[in-house]
Formats: sequence, structure tokens, C-alpha cells
Amino acid sequence: MSARGQFSSRIGFVIAAAGSAVGLGNIWGFPTQVASNGGAAFVLVYLVLTFLLAYPILMAELIIGRHAQSNMVDALQKISIDPIPKLIGRLTGYWGLVVVSLILSFYAIVAGWMLAYGLQSVTNMLGMTAASTWLTTASILRDIIFCVIFFVMTILIVSKGVSNGIEKWSTRLMPMLIVLILALIIYVSTLDGAGQGWEVYLVPDFSKITDPNLLISALGQAFFSLSLGVGTMLIYGSYVSKKENIVVLGASVALVDIGIAIMAGMLIIPAMYVALNNGVTIFNEAGDLIAGPQLIFTVIPSLFESMGTIGPFIALVFFLLMAIAAVTSSISMLEVPVAYAVENSEVSRSKASWLIGVGILLISTVIIFNQALLFDLVVAITTQYSQPLIGLMLSIFAGWVWHRHTILEELKDGCPEMESSVFWKIWPSYVRYVCPIILIVMFYTTTFG
Ligand code: PFF
Repeated sequence: MSARGQFSSRIGFVIAAAGSAVGLGNIWGFPTQVASNGGAAFVLVYLVLTFLLAYPILMAELIIGRHAQSNMVDALQKISIDPIPKLIGRLTGYWGLVVVSLILSFYAIVAGWMLAYGLQSVTNMLGMTAASTWLTTASILRDIIFCVIFFVMTILIVSKGVSNGIEKWSTRLMPMLIVLILALIIYVSTLDGAGQGWEVYLVPDFSKITDPNLLISALGQAFFSLSLGVGTMLIYGSYVSKKENIVVLGASVALVDIGIAIMAGMLIIPAMYVALNNGVTIFNEAGDLIAGPQLIFTVIPSLFESMGTIGPFIALVFFLLMAIAAVTSSISMLEVPVAYAVENSEVSRSKASWLIGVGILLISTVIIFNQALLFDLVVAITTQYSQPLIGLMLSIFAGWVWHRHTILEELKDGCPEMESSVFWKIWPSYVRYVCPIILIVMFYTTTFG
């Protein structure tokens, strides 16, 4: 077994974990949910859910990870004393491993589309019409080629290790992402029609948020956005130095994630109304705003086309932004099985990254060949069901299985005055009672309600 990696600094961890959290979920998922679910009212619900439910689970993952100094499979076993919880811990860990690999398998396909559309803006500038058409027309070959490129990028970064790969690339890419998003927000705001988008975003429509389904989709979005329930945050927590105040670090990650989601809303929603102003259809037959793939691959590109010569440049920046967001998340996903393999066998990190990366790429290929059948199914099984359910298991482990005294000792590393903090007064009983109850009720209503 090789020596464990560690983030070289506090800020390095926050950027890497925020890089994991900030992804396609923020820039694509969040704005579309906001636009179709009551604008600022949804933002409010999302904020409340993130702090009341997702943040406590994020803390459970980070604290368990740092204490156990290992991947989720071994960590949940280590914090249990009796054989039955040990076994359940192990199984939950394996479940996380499978789920995160499946999430990566569809995420990489979508990220590949971003690369193809980004490249299309270049072929457009060069007047290569045939290439542009090929890049934006769905085909198995195109999907496979760009998925492979995306996997190679992810594998190369993960194979370099925690501080030299994940941290280094996250600290390079995340500032770029923030600059690109700000530049696009400013540019789009100057265009005709943007004002109407800002209005839709900022004026709360509370009539929409009484729908229980909305609460559930907001919760799912919050879990996905914070990369919870699959051992990603747990393994990142295991690379945090014992000198750090992990409660503050976790809160910083959640704040950056929310902040960037809100910023993405300031970009996408006004952009949709600019598109409307330019004659692009942004509503479907039912009168709702177009969301999902059609938004990113039809509405937004038609907006770029209607912009004239600057269009392809803006398109390039936009898809670059998407690809950056995706790769800082995908590296955190691949890290989960790679860390497990490295910690449980003699295999080198580089070999593990390639072997596992190619293995997951094969799953992506199966999905590409059977897209109509498998794509939505894999998304639903992993994000809608598994992530909240494993989140529930984690809250049970942190609240019922793990000894409170050991948790306090762990938290005192990096914050000796923890016992008298507000966090310690609330969090332990919170993950013990409130999180499991709410998660069970919500899960029950989505599945059987
Ligand atoms: N948080 C990422 C996003 O919002 O796009 C998705 C994600 C990353 C999910 C890492 C799960 C994970 F382990």
C-alpha cells in the first residue's frame, strides 16, 4: 500500500472539493429548475434544503473520511464496532463505488457532447460546414470519440495523484471557470431581452413551491450538486490535514457550490430570454421553458447563431466553461474507485486509474449503443434513488453507529473549542434524528406517493 495523498493546503482542498461540487449540475441543472419552478422562490427552497439536509450529510462524509483515512468501503467498516454494522458499512461502501462509477459513465457522455459542441464553434469560425454538421448531429461514433477524449483527460489527471493531479488541475481550472462565467453574465446582460430573464429569475413566484414534487427535485438537485452519497466527499475529506477546521471547510465548499449555481442562473435564464428576443423558441408545447438537453444543445446554440460573427467565440467560451466544470467533477468521481483499488491492493495509482477508467468507459459505450433504453434509467437509478438512499445510510452511520465521543475528538483536531460551538450543539442530534426522518419521508413520497 502506498503513502496516502493529501491536499497541500486548505484552499487547495476547498477548490478541489468545490470543483467536484460545481459541475453540469450547477450550470445546467440548477438554472433550468429555477426557471421552471418559480424563480427566486425555488432558489430560496434550494438554499434552505442545502443547509438543512445536504450540508449535514456533507459534514458526515468529510468527518468520517478524515477520521478513517480511507475510502468509503473501509471507512464505514472502521467506524463500526459490531460485526453487523461492519458488514452493512462494507456493503454501503460498495454500493457507493458502483453508483459513482455509473454516474461517471453517463456524465462523461454528456461532457463529451460539450467538447463536440465546443469544437464545432471552431469549425464554424473556419467555415468547415460539413465538420460542424457532423459534430452537432447525434451519432454513435461522435459520442464514442468525445467520450474517450474526456475519459483520457480525467484519467491523466487522477493518475497524477491528489496534490499533483486533482488539486493542481482544480486550482488551475476553477478560477478560469469563474472568470468565464462572469464574462458571459456581463456580456449577456447587455443584450436585448436579458432584462426579462432577470425578472423571471429574481421575482419569486411562491405559488409553484407548494408542490411536494418540487421539494423532492430540489433535494435531489442539492445532493447531486454537492456530490453526496457516493464517497467522493468522504475520500476528499480523508485527504484533509488534521490541522484544519473541517466544519468551516465544509461550509466554504457548500457556499461556493451554491454561489456558482446562482451565478449560472444569472447567465442561463437571461440568455434564454435573449434567445426569445432573437426569435428562438424557448417554450415547449405545454408552455413551459425548455429544459434538459434541448436547452443546451438547441436553444443556447441558436442564440449563438443569432449573434453574428461574435457568436462562435461566445459559443466556444460557453462550452469550454461546461467542459471545465465537468472535468473537475469527473476527476472526483474516478478518484473513488481508484482510491479503493490503491488502498486495497498493490496496484499503482497510474495503473488503477487507467484500468478503472477504461472499465467505466466500456460502461459508457454500452450506454451509447443503447441510449434510448439506458440513459435515463441509469440517471434515475443513480441520482434519484441511490444518492439520497446512501445519504440516509451515511446519516445513520454518523448518527447511530459511530460513537459521539470519537466524532468530537475528530472534530477537535483543527478546532479545540469545538465542544462549545454551535455546530456541535446542533449537528449530532440533527444527523441522528432529523436527517434520517426527512430523507425517509421524502424517499417514500417520491417512490410510493
Ligand atoms: N456535483 C456534480 C455536479 O453538480 O455536476 C456531480 C457529481 C460529482 C455527482 C461527483 C457525484 C459525484 F461524486
